[in-house]
Amino acid sequence: MNTGIIGIGRYLPEKILTNADLEKMVDTSDEWIRTRTGIEERRIANNETNTSDMAFEAAKKAIADAEITPEDIDMILVATVTPDYPFPSVACLLQERLGAKKAAAMDISAACAGFMYGMITAKQFIDNGAYKHVLVVGVEKLSKITDWEDRNTAVLFGDAAGAAILGPVPDGKGILAFELGSDGSGAKHLYQDEKLIMNGREVFKFAVRQMGESSINVIEKAGLKKEDVDFLIPHQANIRIMEAARQRLELPVEKMSKTVNKYGNTSAASIPVSLIEDLEAGRVKENDVVVMVGFGGGLTWGAIIMRWGK
Ligand code: UT7
Repeated sequence: MNTGIIGIGRYLPEKILTNADLEKMVDTSDEWIRTRTGIEERRIANNETNTSDMAFEAAKKAIADAEITPEDIDMILVATVTPDYPFPSVACLLQERLGAKKAAAMDISAACAGFMYGMITAKQFIDNGAYKHVLVVGVEKLSKITDWEDRNTAVLFGDAAGAAILGPVPDGKGILAFELGSDGSGAKHLYQDEKLIMNGREVFKFAVRQMGESSINVIEKAGLKKEDVDFLIPHQANIRIMEAARQRLELPVEKMSKTVNKYGNTSAASIPVSLIEDLEAGRVKENDVVVMVGFGGGLTWGAIIMRWGK
């Protein structure tokens, strides 16, 4: 057996914040945001909805999709940089709300690479036989740490949750190879000091380099070639960064996930939310080789190559 995704779910707040709305809030334009980032609109959670509420909605769907019950979950990993509280963890709040009586629970702090870190942590427990089902959630309420007066960042982010149940899948399917990495010397380029602060240009350079490199590395680790890749799901930060990764893999436009236009950068939620939309639209199919790659504050990065199916 191998480890793979056996169920998925997402949650997106209803409220849409458009570029036109942002034009009224900061000195920006729809044209600048579209051409520099590819973002047209993003979702913003209301005051009553916190990070754990979004995680709960996505997790319920993933559990139903996996056809298991909350009692079947051995561990809950929540990747987030916007938890409800510094502690207890969102994972513990979720454990109680779901009624996941057997589950160990903890949060993972790896910013936008968090879902990759969560999946790979889950994989270790499942591969070694200790656990059978691990719930991994990537969730952010970035709107609560966004500086709504800073045009450099206010236009970029959105709120969302994506969840997956990881469990045993037949050999040949599931996670074929992975890479995780970090470079704390770049911590100063993207951090939270009450509000989120970013040196966009530095993060941009790092992201373009790292997304391409990590994608190539996991393809090689899996013993595959670029031509074997059917689909690319890059972290949805900026269409220009995503395009650079796509071109490095020499994939046509229709073989890359794109939700950044609708949801902006939702950090740890962006990869699972995109995966679900690609599955629903039939862009990712049984047996497809899919590369997922993320980068973020820390600096952190992570990539996974998997063969879709359970
Ligand atoms: O998940 C990881 C999180 N972070 C990222 O992925 C961010 C990575 N970086 C980026 O996506 C890009 O660097 C940005 C979208 C943040 C910025 O795009 P850029 O092409 O790197 O623009 P820039 O920072 O070089 O700024 C160009 C100009 C500046 O004006 P001056 O100094 O040339 O006069 C900015 O002040 O654009 C200005 N600018 C804006 N103008 C209108 C910055 N933000 C805005 C804005 N509207 N919202």
